[in-house]
Amino acid sequence: MREISIVSGNRHKVDELMPLAKAHGIRLKWINYSKVEIQADGISDIARAGGILAYAALGVPLIVEDTGIFISALKGFPGPYSAQAYKTIGLEGILTLLKGRKSRKAEFRTAICYAGDEDTVVFEGVVHGTIATRIRGGRDFGYDPIFIPEGHTKAYSEMELAEKNSASHRAAAFEKFAEYLSRK
Ligand code: IMP
Repeated sequence: MREISIVSGNRHKVDELMPLAKAHGIRLKWINYSKVEIQADGISDIARAGGILAYAALGVPLIVEDTGIFISALKGFPGPYSAQAYKTIGLEGILTLLKGRKSRKAEFRTAICYAGDEDTVVFEGVVHGTIATRIRGGRDFGYDPIFIPEGHTKAYSEMELAEKNSASHRAAAFEKFAEYLSRK
């Protein structure tokens, strides 16, 4: 089984990535450390910089990932600033910003950067959906309680992990990475 490290300080991300990796015959080794996060407009650039710096420090084949939620009525905010927005205005703040807006469209994007001996590659996954009108219950991870993926009535937080993983932004990015790795 191939061993790849995941450098992340976020247990929820690792909980989701572990079964995805296992399904592809990849053993993920968790290095519980927050990647260096540069300020940039695109999550792919943020993931790439984090991957390059993590590889320079650790020297083992690894992935890092960066995720953002992009809300149409807010011109893509919080996007690459999702972590900061979560810590400051929080989910209530996002709901307040959307009060009275016609569109509640949003998308989740994940960029996974693989950094190894010979290359550094980034894979993106996107899921479209809408922002709920209230904070939903269930698993409490970041924006999951307010994001309803297209074709569903439940928020991500109200789904079992396996259901979220069956069609999530993170899973879509990971599928592309796994496919790349299988050809290496
Ligand atoms: P980062 O990728 O760690 O910078 O995450 C940005 C923000 O989005 C943080 O507040 C995370 O908690 C949140 N986040 C990342 N991935 C997800 C997800 O799959 N669902 C909900 N929130 C997420």
